[in-house]
Amino acid sequence: MSSNKENWGSRVGLILAMAGNAVGLGNFLRFPVQAIQNGGGAFIVPYLVCFLLMGIPLLWIEWSMGRFGGKKGDHSTPFILNTMDKRSFWKYIGVFGIFTNIAVAAYYCYIESWTLSYMYHSVVGSFGGKSPDEVAGFFGSYISLTTIEPIVFWIVCLVLNTWILSKGLSGGVEKVAKIGMPLLILFGILLAIKGITLKAGVDGAIYDGTLGLNYLWTPDFSTIWSPKVWLAAAGQIFFTLSVGMGSIQCYASYVKPKDDIALNAMSAGWMNEFVEVVLGSAIIIPISIGYLGIDKVVELTQSGGLGLGFKTLPYLFQQWGPVLAALAGVMWFGLLFFAGITSSLAMGTPYMGFLQDEFNWTREKSAITFGLLVFAFGLPTVLFFNEGVFDEYDYWAGTVSLVVFALAEVILFAWVFGIDKGWAEINEGSDIKTPVIYKFIIKYITPLFLGFVFFGSLPDIWAKLSAEASIYVHLSRLLLVVLFAGISYLVYVAYKKRVAEGRI
Ligand code: TRP
Repeated sequence: MSSNKENWGSRVGLILAMAGNAVGLGNFLRFPVQAIQNGGGAFIVPYLVCFLLMGIPLLWIEWSMGRFGGKKGDHSTPFILNTMDKRSFWKYIGVFGIFTNIAVAAYYCYIESWTLSYMYHSVVGSFGGKSPDEVAGFFGSYISLTTIEPIVFWIVCLVLNTWILSKGLSGGVEKVAKIGMPLLILFGILLAIKGITLKAGVDGAIYDGTLGLNYLWTPDFSTIWSPKVWLAAAGQIFFTLSVGMGSIQCYASYVKPKDDIALNAMSAGWMNEFVEVVLGSAIIIPISIGYLGIDKVVELTQSGGLGLGFKTLPYLFQQWGPVLAALAGVMWFGLLFFAGITSSLAMGTPYMGFLQDEFNWTREKSAITFGLLVFAFGLPTVLFFNEGVFDEYDYWAGTVSLVVFALAEVILFAWVFGIDKGWAEINEGSDIKTPVIYKFIIKYITPLFLGFVFFGSLPDIWAKLSAEASIYVHLSRLLLVVLFAGISYLVYVAYKKRVAEGRI
Protein backbone atom coordinates (compact mmCIF):
# COMPACT_ATOMS: atom_id res chain seq x y z
CA MET A 1 0.00 0.00 0.00
CA SER A 2 1.15 3.50 -0.69
CA SER A 3 2.70 5.56 2.07
CA ASN A 4 1.52 8.71 0.36
CA LYS A 5 -0.73 10.23 2.96
CA GLU A 6 -0.27 13.94 2.59
CA ASN A 7 -2.97 16.53 3.18
CA TRP A 8 -3.49 20.22 2.74
CA GLY A 9 -3.03 22.24 5.93
CA SER A 10 -6.06 24.51 5.60
CA ARG A 11 -8.78 25.56 3.24
CA VAL A 12 -7.21 28.95 2.62
CA GLY A 13 -3.92 27.22 1.94
CA LEU A 14 -5.55 24.87 -0.56
CA ILE A 15 -7.29 27.68 -2.42
CA LEU A 16 -4.12 29.77 -2.54
CA ALA A 17 -2.09 26.79 -3.74
CA MET A 18 -4.64 26.04 -6.45
CA ALA A 19 -4.81 29.70 -7.42
CA GLY A 20 -1.02 29.69 -7.45
CA ASN A 21 -1.07 26.68 -9.72
CA ALA A 22 -3.29 28.56 -12.17
CA VAL A 23 -1.87 32.05 -11.82
CA GLY A 24 1.41 31.92 -13.64
CA LEU A 25 3.58 33.43 -16.30
CA GLY A 26 0.63 32.78 -18.60
CA ASN A 27 -1.41 35.49 -16.88
CA PHE A 28 1.17 38.25 -17.21
CA LEU A 29 3.19 37.36 -20.30
CA ARG A 30 1.02 35.15 -22.48
CA PHE A 31 -2.42 36.74 -22.00
CA PRO A 32 -1.52 40.32 -23.03
CA VAL A 33 0.35 39.08 -26.06
CA GLN A 34 -2.46 36.76 -27.17
CA ALA A 35 -4.95 39.58 -26.71
CA ILE A 36 -2.90 42.04 -28.77
CA GLN A 37 -2.07 39.54 -31.50
CA ASN A 38 -5.73 38.66 -31.88
CA GLY A 39 -7.08 42.15 -32.21
CA GLY A 40 -7.59 43.32 -28.62
CA GLY A 41 -11.33 43.83 -28.30
CA ALA A 42 -11.94 41.00 -30.75
CA PHE A 43 -10.23 38.55 -28.41
CA ILE A 44 -12.01 39.29 -25.19
CA VAL A 45 -15.49 38.01 -26.13
CA PRO A 46 -14.34 34.56 -27.32
CA TYR A 47 -12.06 34.44 -24.30
CA LEU A 48 -14.92 34.97 -21.85
CA VAL A 49 -17.17 32.51 -23.68
CA CYS A 50 -14.41 29.90 -23.52
CA PHE A 51 -14.06 30.54 -19.79
CA LEU A 52 -17.76 29.96 -19.17
CA LEU A 53 -18.25 26.98 -21.48
CA MET A 54 -14.92 25.16 -21.16
CA GLY A 55 -12.99 26.64 -18.26
CA ILE A 56 -15.58 26.35 -15.50
CA PRO A 57 -16.81 22.88 -16.53
CA LEU A 58 -13.25 21.55 -16.75
CA LEU A 59 -12.40 23.00 -13.35
CA TRP A 60 -15.31 21.14 -11.78
CA ILE A 61 -14.53 17.97 -13.70
CA GLU A 62 -10.85 17.97 -12.75
CA TRP A 63 -11.38 18.85 -9.10
CA SER A 64 -13.96 16.09 -8.72
CA MET A 65 -11.84 13.55 -10.60
CA GLY A 66 -8.97 14.39 -8.30
CA ARG A 67 -10.91 14.03 -5.07
CA PHE A 68 -12.49 10.82 -6.42
CA GLY A 69 -9.06 9.34 -7.16
CA GLY A 70 -7.69 10.47 -3.82
CA LYS A 71 -10.34 8.44 -1.97
CA LYS A 72 -8.83 5.32 -3.52
CA GLY A 73 -5.26 6.45 -2.92
CA ASP A 74 -4.54 7.57 -6.48
CA HIS A 75 -2.77 10.91 -6.88
CA SER A 76 -1.95 11.09 -10.56
CA THR A 77 -4.06 10.80 -13.68
CA PRO A 78 -3.08 7.34 -15.04
CA PHE A 79 -4.79 5.48 -12.21
CA ILE A 80 -7.38 8.17 -11.48
CA LEU A 81 -8.69 7.70 -15.01
CA ASN A 82 -8.43 3.94 -14.69
CA THR A 83 -10.45 4.00 -11.48
CA MET A 84 -13.24 5.82 -13.31
CA ASP A 85 -13.33 3.20 -16.06
CA LYS A 86 -11.71 -0.20 -15.92
CA ARG A 87 -10.66 -0.36 -19.58
CA SER A 88 -6.93 -0.39 -19.53
CA PHE A 89 -6.21 2.18 -22.27
CA TRP A 90 -7.38 4.97 -19.95
CA LYS A 91 -4.25 4.71 -17.91
CA TYR A 92 -2.17 5.46 -20.99
CA ILE A 93 -4.32 8.49 -21.76
CA GLY A 94 -3.62 9.47 -18.16
CA VAL A 95 0.07 9.57 -19.07
CA PHE A 96 -0.63 13.01 -20.55
CA GLY A 97 -1.30 14.27 -17.04
CA ILE A 98 2.29 13.52 -16.01
CA PHE A 99 3.98 14.12 -19.36
CA THR A 100 2.64 17.66 -19.90
CA ASN A 101 3.84 18.75 -16.50
CA ILE A 102 7.41 17.57 -16.97
CA ALA A 103 7.66 18.84 -20.54
CA VAL A 104 6.20 22.24 -19.67
CA ALA A 105 8.37 22.52 -16.55
CA ALA A 106 11.37 21.91 -18.82
CA TYR A 107 10.90 25.27 -20.54
CA TYR A 108 8.83 27.09 -17.93
CA CYS A 109 11.51 26.95 -15.21
CA TYR A 110 13.91 28.61 -17.62
CA ILE A 111 11.70 31.71 -17.98
CA GLU A 112 11.11 31.57 -14.26
CA SER A 113 14.89 31.82 -13.77
CA TRP A 114 15.07 34.91 -16.01
CA THR A 115 12.85 36.71 -13.52
CA LEU A 116 15.38 36.07 -10.74
CA SER A 117 18.18 37.43 -12.86
CA TYR A 118 16.14 40.45 -13.97
CA MET A 119 15.23 41.22 -10.37
CA TYR A 120 18.92 41.26 -9.56
CA HIS A 121 19.71 43.48 -12.54
CA SER A 122 16.92 45.89 -11.64
CA VAL A 123 18.40 46.31 -8.16
CA VAL A 124 21.98 46.84 -9.31
CA GLY A 125 20.78 49.22 -12.02
CA SER A 126 21.98 47.33 -15.10
CA PHE A 127 19.27 48.92 -17.26
CA GLY A 128 20.00 52.51 -16.21
CA GLY A 129 21.05 54.91 -18.98
CA LYS A 130 20.50 52.32 -21.71
CA SER A 131 18.67 52.99 -24.97
CA PRO A 132 15.63 50.85 -25.91
CA ASP A 133 17.84 48.87 -28.27
CA GLU A 134 20.45 48.30 -25.61
CA VAL A 135 17.86 46.98 -23.15
CA ALA A 136 16.46 44.69 -25.84
CA GLY A 137 20.03 43.71 -26.72
CA PHE A 138 20.63 42.75 -23.09
CA PHE A 139 17.87 40.17 -23.43
CA GLY A 140 19.23 39.01 -26.78
CA SER A 141 22.67 38.32 -25.37
CA TYR A 142 21.16 36.76 -22.26
CA ILE A 143 19.35 34.06 -24.21
CA SER A 144 22.31 33.62 -26.55
CA LEU A 145 24.30 32.61 -23.45
CA THR A 146 27.13 35.05 -23.94
CA THR A 147 27.91 34.52 -20.25
CA ILE A 148 27.35 31.61 -17.88
CA GLU A 149 24.88 33.68 -15.84
CA PRO A 150 21.62 32.33 -17.32
CA ILE A 151 22.70 28.77 -16.59
CA VAL A 152 23.59 29.65 -13.01
CA PHE A 153 20.22 31.31 -12.38
CA TRP A 154 18.46 28.41 -14.04
CA ILE A 155 20.15 25.85 -11.81
CA VAL A 156 19.46 27.96 -8.71
CA CYS A 157 15.81 28.04 -9.75
CA LEU A 158 15.67 24.26 -10.25
CA VAL A 159 17.31 23.61 -6.89
CA LEU A 160 14.84 25.95 -5.22
CA ASN A 161 11.88 24.16 -6.80
CA THR A 162 13.25 20.75 -5.85
CA TRP A 163 13.90 21.82 -2.29
CA ILE A 164 10.39 23.23 -1.79
CA LEU A 165 8.83 20.14 -3.37
CA SER A 166 10.80 17.90 -1.03
CA LYS A 167 9.11 19.70 1.91
CA GLY A 168 5.75 18.42 0.74
CA LEU A 169 2.38 20.03 0.18
CA SER A 170 1.50 21.65 3.49
CA GLY A 171 5.14 22.10 4.50
CA GLY A 172 6.37 23.52 1.18
CA VAL A 173 3.94 24.29 -1.64
CA GLU A 174 1.24 25.70 0.62
CA LYS A 175 3.67 27.94 2.51
CA VAL A 176 5.07 29.42 -0.69
CA ALA A 177 1.55 30.09 -1.96
CA LYS A 178 0.56 31.80 1.28
CA ILE A 179 3.47 34.22 0.98
CA GLY A 180 3.69 34.47 -2.80
CA MET A 181 0.06 35.00 -3.76
CA PRO A 182 -0.66 38.03 -1.52
CA LEU A 183 2.63 39.65 -2.52
CA LEU A 184 1.92 39.00 -6.18
CA ILE A 185 -1.50 40.59 -5.91
CA LEU A 186 -0.08 43.58 -4.03
CA PHE A 187 2.69 44.16 -6.59
CA GLY A 188 0.19 43.62 -9.39
CA ILE A 189 -2.22 46.23 -8.03
CA LEU A 190 0.56 48.81 -7.55
CA LEU A 191 1.89 48.31 -11.09
CA ALA A 192 -1.61 48.32 -12.53
CA ILE A 193 -2.34 51.66 -10.87
CA LYS A 194 0.84 53.01 -12.43
CA GLY A 195 -0.21 51.59 -15.80
CA ILE A 196 -3.75 52.94 -15.74
CA THR A 197 -2.77 56.41 -14.54
CA LEU A 198 0.02 56.85 -17.08
CA LYS A 199 -0.35 60.37 -18.53
CA ALA A 200 0.66 61.49 -21.98
CA GLY A 201 3.54 63.96 -21.71
CA VAL A 202 4.57 62.87 -18.22
CA ASP A 203 7.82 60.86 -17.76
CA GLY A 204 8.23 60.57 -21.49
CA ALA A 205 4.93 58.77 -22.18
CA ILE A 206 3.33 59.65 -25.51
CA TYR A 207 -0.18 58.41 -24.79
CA ASP A 208 -2.40 57.95 -21.74
CA GLY A 209 -2.45 54.49 -20.19
CA THR A 210 -6.14 54.30 -21.05
CA LEU A 211 -5.32 54.09 -24.76
CA GLY A 212 -4.04 50.54 -24.27
CA LEU A 213 -6.96 49.61 -22.04
CA ASN A 214 -9.47 50.86 -24.56
CA TYR A 215 -7.73 48.90 -27.27
CA LEU A 216 -8.27 45.76 -25.24
CA TRP A 217 -11.70 46.43 -23.80
CA THR A 218 -13.59 47.95 -26.70
CA PRO A 219 -15.41 44.96 -28.20
CA ASP A 220 -14.60 44.59 -31.87
CA PHE A 221 -16.86 42.20 -33.71
CA SER A 222 -15.11 42.35 -37.08
CA THR A 223 -12.98 39.24 -36.56
CA ILE A 224 -15.17 37.51 -34.05
CA TRP A 225 -15.93 34.60 -36.38
CA SER A 226 -12.33 33.90 -37.19
CA PRO A 227 -11.40 30.34 -36.10
CA LYS A 228 -7.90 31.56 -35.36
CA VAL A 229 -9.16 33.96 -32.70
CA TRP A 230 -11.29 31.24 -31.11
CA LEU A 231 -8.44 28.76 -31.05
CA ALA A 232 -6.17 31.33 -29.47
CA ALA A 233 -8.83 32.15 -26.85
CA ALA A 234 -9.42 28.49 -26.06
CA GLY A 235 -5.68 27.84 -25.84
CA GLN A 236 -5.25 30.72 -23.43
CA ILE A 237 -8.10 29.53 -21.20
CA PHE A 238 -6.51 26.09 -20.98
CA PHE A 239 -3.06 27.36 -20.25
CA THR A 240 -4.05 29.95 -17.71
CA LEU A 241 -6.46 27.80 -15.70
CA SER A 242 -4.06 24.83 -15.80
CA VAL A 243 -6.80 22.58 -17.15
CA GLY A 244 -6.04 19.61 -19.38
CA MET A 245 -2.73 19.19 -17.59
CA GLY A 246 -3.22 16.84 -14.67
CA SER A 247 -1.96 19.20 -12.00
CA ILE A 248 -5.41 20.18 -10.71
CA GLN A 249 -6.39 16.51 -10.34
CA CYS A 250 -3.22 15.92 -8.39
CA TYR A 251 -3.77 18.83 -5.99
CA ALA A 252 -7.44 17.89 -5.57
CA SER A 253 -6.56 14.27 -4.80
CA TYR A 254 -5.22 15.47 -1.47
CA VAL A 255 -8.55 17.05 -0.49
CA LYS A 256 -10.44 15.11 2.19
CA PRO A 257 -13.27 12.94 0.80
CA LYS A 258 -16.14 14.97 2.25
CA ASP A 259 -14.64 18.42 1.76
CA ASP A 260 -16.14 20.94 -0.63
CA ILE A 261 -14.74 21.16 -4.13
CA ALA A 262 -17.43 23.06 -6.07
CA LEU A 263 -16.89 26.34 -4.25
CA ASN A 264 -13.14 25.87 -3.90
CA ALA A 265 -12.82 25.33 -7.64
CA MET A 266 -14.72 28.56 -8.29
CA SER A 267 -12.68 30.53 -5.75
CA ALA A 268 -9.38 29.48 -7.29
CA GLY A 269 -10.67 29.80 -10.86
CA TRP A 270 -12.16 33.26 -10.42
CA MET A 271 -9.09 34.43 -8.57
CA ASN A 272 -7.09 33.41 -11.63
CA GLU A 273 -9.44 35.34 -13.90
CA PHE A 274 -9.22 38.42 -11.72
CA VAL A 275 -5.43 38.30 -11.85
CA GLU A 276 -5.49 37.70 -15.60
CA VAL A 277 -8.12 40.08 -16.95
CA VAL A 278 -7.69 42.84 -14.38
CA LEU A 279 -4.01 42.78 -13.38
CA GLY A 280 -2.64 40.93 -16.41
CA SER A 281 -4.21 43.40 -18.78
CA ALA A 282 -3.47 46.58 -16.82
CA ILE A 283 0.33 46.40 -16.70
CA ILE A 284 2.13 45.41 -19.91
CA ILE A 285 -0.52 46.71 -22.29
CA PRO A 286 -1.10 50.27 -21.01
CA ILE A 287 2.56 50.84 -20.17
CA SER A 288 3.97 49.62 -23.46
CA ILE A 289 1.24 51.21 -25.58
CA GLY A 290 1.55 54.44 -23.59
CA TYR A 291 5.21 54.70 -24.52
CA LEU A 292 5.26 53.10 -27.94
CA GLY A 293 1.79 53.39 -29.43
CA ILE A 294 -0.54 50.61 -30.62
CA ASP A 295 1.11 49.92 -33.97
CA LYS A 296 4.58 49.47 -32.57
CA VAL A 297 3.35 47.16 -29.81
CA VAL A 298 1.34 45.07 -32.26
CA GLU A 299 4.48 44.79 -34.37
CA LEU A 300 6.60 43.79 -31.35
CA THR A 301 4.21 41.01 -30.40
CA GLN A 302 4.26 39.58 -33.90
CA SER A 303 7.87 38.58 -33.47
CA GLY A 304 7.23 36.39 -30.45
CA GLY A 305 5.55 37.20 -27.21
CA LEU A 306 8.06 37.11 -24.41
CA GLY A 307 9.75 40.23 -25.62
CA LEU A 308 7.54 42.89 -24.09
CA GLY A 309 7.99 41.80 -20.49
CA PHE A 310 11.77 41.45 -20.65
CA LYS A 311 12.89 43.70 -23.49
CA THR A 312 10.55 46.66 -23.24
CA LEU A 313 9.30 47.06 -19.68
CA PRO A 314 12.75 47.38 -18.04
CA TYR A 315 13.51 50.23 -20.43
CA LEU A 316 10.20 51.96 -19.82
CA PHE A 317 10.66 51.70 -16.04
CA GLN A 318 13.86 53.74 -16.41
CA GLN A 319 11.77 56.72 -17.44
CA TRP A 320 10.52 56.99 -13.87
CA GLY A 321 13.97 57.74 -12.40
CA PRO A 322 16.48 55.28 -10.90
CA VAL A 323 14.76 54.62 -7.56
CA LEU A 324 11.27 53.99 -8.91
CA ALA A 325 12.80 52.02 -11.79
CA ALA A 326 14.56 49.66 -9.38
CA LEU A 327 11.38 49.34 -7.33
CA ALA A 328 9.18 48.73 -10.37
CA GLY A 329 11.69 46.18 -11.66
CA VAL A 330 11.69 44.30 -8.39
CA MET A 331 7.90 44.36 -8.23
CA TRP A 332 7.41 43.31 -11.86
CA PHE A 333 9.98 40.52 -11.92
CA GLY A 334 9.17 39.57 -8.34
CA LEU A 335 5.54 39.18 -9.28
CA LEU A 336 6.52 37.09 -12.28
CA PHE A 337 8.74 34.98 -10.05
CA PHE A 338 5.97 34.21 -7.57
CA ALA A 339 3.53 33.58 -10.39
CA GLY A 340 6.04 31.22 -11.97
CA ILE A 341 7.17 29.25 -8.95
CA THR A 342 3.70 28.51 -7.59
CA SER A 343 2.96 27.01 -11.03
CA SER A 344 6.19 25.11 -11.53
CA LEU A 345 5.76 23.51 -8.12
CA ALA A 346 2.37 22.28 -9.29
CA MET A 347 4.06 20.71 -12.30
CA GLY A 348 6.23 18.59 -10.02
CA THR A 349 3.43 17.04 -8.01
CA PRO A 350 1.76 14.60 -10.46
CA TYR A 351 5.06 12.86 -11.18
CA MET A 352 5.90 12.76 -7.47
CA GLY A 353 2.45 11.51 -6.52
CA PHE A 354 2.75 8.71 -9.06
CA LEU A 355 6.11 7.45 -7.79
CA GLN A 356 5.06 7.71 -4.16
CA ASP A 357 1.82 5.82 -4.85
CA GLU A 358 3.18 3.09 -7.06
CA PHE A 359 6.78 2.53 -6.04
CA ASN A 360 6.75 3.80 -2.46
CA TRP A 361 9.38 6.38 -3.21
CA THR A 362 10.02 9.01 -0.57
CA ARG A 363 9.09 12.62 -1.19
CA GLU A 364 12.75 13.59 -1.28
CA LYS A 365 13.69 10.98 -3.86
CA SER A 366 10.71 11.89 -6.05
CA ALA A 367 11.51 15.61 -5.80
CA ILE A 368 15.18 15.15 -6.65
CA THR A 369 14.49 12.96 -9.66
CA PHE A 370 11.90 15.50 -10.84
CA GLY A 371 14.56 18.20 -10.63
CA LEU A 372 16.97 16.04 -12.61
CA LEU A 373 14.38 15.26 -15.27
CA VAL A 374 13.54 18.93 -15.71
CA PHE A 375 17.25 19.63 -15.97
CA ALA A 376 17.76 16.95 -18.62
CA PHE A 377 14.76 17.87 -20.74
CA GLY A 378 15.23 21.57 -20.11
CA LEU A 379 18.87 21.71 -21.15
CA PRO A 380 18.08 21.70 -24.89
CA THR A 381 15.65 24.61 -24.44
CA VAL A 382 18.36 26.55 -22.63
CA LEU A 383 21.22 25.73 -24.99
CA PHE A 384 19.23 26.00 -28.20
CA PHE A 385 16.67 28.63 -27.29
CA ASN A 386 17.27 30.55 -30.51
CA GLU A 387 16.92 27.35 -32.53
CA GLY A 388 13.24 27.03 -31.61
CA VAL A 389 13.40 24.12 -29.15
CA PHE A 390 11.49 26.20 -26.62
CA ASP A 391 8.67 26.94 -29.05
CA GLU A 392 8.47 23.31 -30.05
CA TYR A 393 7.99 22.19 -26.46
CA ASP A 394 5.41 24.91 -25.92
CA TYR A 395 3.45 23.93 -29.00
CA TRP A 396 3.25 20.18 -28.40
CA ALA A 397 3.25 19.97 -24.62
CA GLY A 398 1.85 23.38 -23.69
CA THR A 399 -0.89 23.60 -26.31
CA VAL A 400 -1.81 20.47 -28.27
CA SER A 401 -1.57 18.01 -25.36
CA LEU A 402 -3.94 20.07 -23.24
CA VAL A 403 -6.71 19.95 -25.80
CA VAL A 404 -6.27 16.23 -26.45
CA PHE A 405 -6.26 15.36 -22.77
CA ALA A 406 -9.19 17.63 -21.92
CA LEU A 407 -11.27 16.14 -24.71
CA ALA A 408 -10.55 12.58 -23.52
CA GLU A 409 -11.27 13.59 -19.96
CA VAL A 410 -14.63 15.21 -20.60
CA ILE A 411 -15.77 12.18 -22.63
CA LEU A 412 -14.71 9.88 -19.82
CA PHE A 413 -16.42 12.02 -17.21
CA ALA A 414 -19.70 12.84 -18.93
CA TRP A 415 -20.23 9.78 -21.10
CA VAL A 416 -18.31 6.80 -19.74
CA PHE A 417 -18.33 7.44 -16.01
CA GLY A 418 -21.68 9.07 -16.65
CA ILE A 419 -22.96 12.60 -16.08
CA ASP A 420 -25.30 11.55 -13.26
CA LYS A 421 -22.53 10.03 -11.21
CA GLY A 422 -20.22 12.84 -12.27
CA TRP A 423 -22.65 15.56 -11.26
CA ALA A 424 -23.15 13.86 -7.88
CA GLU A 425 -19.36 13.81 -7.39
CA ILE A 426 -19.11 17.54 -8.09
CA ASN A 427 -21.88 18.33 -5.63
CA GLU A 428 -20.84 15.99 -2.84
CA GLY A 429 -19.97 18.12 0.20
CA SER A 430 -20.50 21.28 -1.83
CA ASP A 431 -20.80 24.63 -0.09
CA ILE A 432 -22.62 26.24 -3.02
CA LYS A 433 -25.58 25.35 -5.12
CA THR A 434 -24.05 24.62 -8.51
CA PRO A 435 -26.26 25.86 -11.38
CA VAL A 436 -28.03 22.84 -12.91
CA ILE A 437 -27.48 24.26 -16.38
CA TYR A 438 -23.89 23.12 -16.00
CA LYS A 439 -25.01 19.52 -15.94
CA PHE A 440 -26.25 20.06 -19.48
CA ILE A 441 -23.21 22.10 -20.46
CA ILE A 442 -20.80 19.42 -19.23
CA LYS A 443 -22.67 16.69 -21.01
CA TYR A 444 -23.15 18.34 -24.40
CA ILE A 445 -21.63 21.77 -24.84
CA THR A 446 -18.15 21.27 -23.42
CA PRO A 447 -17.41 18.05 -25.39
CA LEU A 448 -18.76 19.59 -28.60
CA PHE A 449 -16.84 22.77 -28.07
CA LEU A 450 -13.66 20.83 -27.33
CA GLY A 451 -14.27 18.69 -30.39
CA PHE A 452 -14.42 21.85 -32.51
CA VAL A 453 -11.25 23.17 -30.99
CA PHE A 454 -9.50 19.86 -31.57
CA PHE A 455 -10.63 19.40 -35.16
CA GLY A 456 -10.12 23.08 -35.83
CA SER A 457 -6.48 22.72 -34.80
CA LEU A 458 -5.80 19.70 -37.02
CA PRO A 459 -4.87 21.73 -40.12
CA ASP A 460 -2.38 23.68 -38.06
CA ILE A 461 -0.93 20.52 -36.52
CA TRP A 462 -0.66 18.96 -39.94
CA ALA A 463 1.00 22.05 -41.38
CA LYS A 464 3.55 21.99 -38.55
CA LEU A 465 4.36 18.34 -39.08
CA SER A 466 4.72 18.58 -42.82
CA ALA A 467 6.75 21.79 -42.82
CA GLU A 468 10.50 21.77 -43.34
CA ALA A 469 12.13 21.67 -39.90
CA SER A 470 15.64 21.95 -38.52
CA ILE A 471 17.49 19.13 -36.84
CA TYR A 472 16.91 20.88 -33.50
CA VAL A 473 13.18 20.78 -34.01
CA HIS A 474 13.25 17.12 -34.98
CA LEU A 475 15.36 16.25 -31.98
CA SER A 476 13.08 18.12 -29.60
CA ARG A 477 10.09 16.21 -30.95
CA LEU A 478 12.03 13.00 -30.47
CA LEU A 479 12.78 13.95 -26.87
CA LEU A 480 9.11 14.58 -26.18
CA VAL A 481 8.21 11.19 -27.63
CA VAL A 482 10.89 9.55 -25.49
CA LEU A 483 9.48 11.24 -22.40
CA PHE A 484 5.96 10.12 -23.18
CA ALA A 485 7.10 6.56 -23.89
CA GLY A 486 9.17 6.46 -20.72
CA ILE A 487 6.24 7.47 -18.53
CA SER A 488 3.98 4.99 -20.32
CA TYR A 489 6.48 2.27 -19.55
CA LEU A 490 6.46 3.20 -15.85
CA VAL A 491 2.69 3.10 -15.88
CA TYR A 492 2.84 -0.36 -17.41
CA VAL A 493 5.27 -1.56 -14.74
CA ALA A 494 3.06 -0.06 -12.03
CA TYR A 495 0.06 -1.84 -13.50
CA LYS A 496 1.87 -5.21 -13.48
CA LYS A 497 2.88 -4.56 -9.90
CA ARG A 498 -0.70 -3.82 -8.92
CA VAL A 499 -1.86 -7.04 -10.56
CA ALA A 500 0.86 -9.05 -8.82
CA GLU A 501 -0.15 -7.56 -5.48
CA GLY A 502 -3.80 -8.26 -6.18
CA ARG A 503 -4.70 -4.57 -6.06
CA ILE A 504 -6.49 -4.52 -9.41
N1 TRP B 1 -1.43 28.04 -15.49
C1 TRP B 1 -0.04 28.33 -15.49
C2 TRP B 1 0.18 29.70 -16.13
O1 TRP B 1 -0.75 30.40 -16.39
C3 TRP B 1 0.78 27.27 -16.19
C4 TRP B 1 0.69 25.93 -15.57
C5 TRP B 1 0.38 25.64 -14.27
C6 TRP B 1 0.91 24.67 -16.17
N2 TRP B 1 0.39 24.29 -14.05
C7 TRP B 1 0.71 23.67 -15.19
C8 TRP B 1 1.26 24.30 -17.44
C9 TRP B 1 0.86 22.33 -15.48
C10 TRP B 1 1.41 22.94 -17.72
C11 TRP B 1 1.21 21.97 -16.76
O2 TRP B 1 1.28 30.11 -16.34
